[in-house]
Amino acid sequence: MGTLTAETLAERLVTFRRHLHANPELSHEEFETTETIRGWLLDAGIRIANYPLKTGLIAEVGGLRGGPIIAIRADIDALPIQEETDLPFASRVPGKMHACGHDFHTATALGAALLLKKQEQELEGTVRFLFQPAEEKAKGASQVIASGALEGVRAIFGLHNKPNLPVGTIGIKAGPIMAAADGFIVEVEGRGTHAAVPEAGLDPIVASAHIITALQSIVSRNVSALDSAVISVTRLNSGTAWNVIAEKAVFDGTLRTFDEKVRGKVRERFEQVVTGVASALGTKATVEWLEGPPPVVNDPKWAEQATRTAESLGLTIVDPALSPAGEDFSFYLQRTPGIFFFLGTSGPQEWHHPAFDVDERALPIGASFFAALAVDALAHLTGQSLK
Ligand code: NI
Repeated sequence: MGTLTAETLAERLVTFRRHLHANPELSHEEFETTETIRGWLLDAGIRIANYPLKTGLIAEVGGLRGGPIIAIRADIDALPIQEETDLPFASRVPGKMHACGHDFHTATALGAALLLKKQEQELEGTVRFLFQPAEEKAKGASQVIASGALEGVRAIFGLHNKPNLPVGTIGIKAGPIMAAADGFIVEVEGRGTHAAVPEAGLDPIVASAHIITALQSIVSRNVSALDSAVISVTRLNSGTAWNVIAEKAVFDGTLRTFDEKVRGKVRERFEQVVTGVASALGTKATVEWLEGPPPVVNDPKWAEQATRTAESLGLTIVDPALSPAGEDFSFYLQRTPGIFFFLGTSGPQEWHHPAFDVDERALPIGASFFAALAVDALAHLTGQSLK
């Protein structure tokens, strides 16, 4: 690689990001993506760390004289969406697209690795890069953790592009920033009978109607006005004919919360309401949870550090709105303090839209911010350990 000026960094990251964008791979299938990242890292002389991952990879910069370890995470997978843009580097794979901008995230992390490699001699510790697979299935973070790559990491940083924030803007928040996204399936078992003789059976439709109505009382009566939660029943299936009372009814939906305590309490109340109301009406109900990732909860101290770093780079700092979407970065934050922030990308569409795109001027901003945050974090941790 030649010298890394601001201009060549921006150009390289555009080339890299467009290559990933044109060649998207779905969760757990990121084989070529992994090889592309590996090739760029090796070209820059960056060492690849040996952790057992089928897709995705771990790299390290620094640590020449020991010191603490911090991590920067980028997710690398794409979505099963048909791209609808006229971009010259639009997806070449039918039905697959980087519609959440994980190509952008990967490029910012690579850029940070290139920038930090230049100052490797001066780094006061190790910066470990987690190029994580399968975020869209909320599985990859757990696999990275199982590989051992989070061991010894004192702080972890990650970002998501934000289409509705302009380039040059960064959204930093202490505490929760993204939701726990759980699903549920409720099965109500009754007893079928002739519709004209209801007393001979147990009607699961009437029971479901009562249960669904009673569930609406949880957010209004069991969740504090200062907290928030959403329960949505989105599908209800039962019955076969107009003159037959059904054997059973099944309904499903989603629960979104921003706090583990609220999440636990709502789930407990949910089960009590479902089983209690069902049994009051003579039916039997079971709840199956489709466990999503926990809420993304940022550490206040690292939010402060990120704010100071952003100020030093002249970025515009905003207090972002909470996102009700889920993000498996939360699994890292359950184990290691850190910060997940939103980086403005002036996008034309929101995440997961077929015409999603990012303004590439945000690439070197993300790379520089990650690199500066890593340097500041290592200095901070080293200073602490000297005390
Ligand atoms: Ni995403």
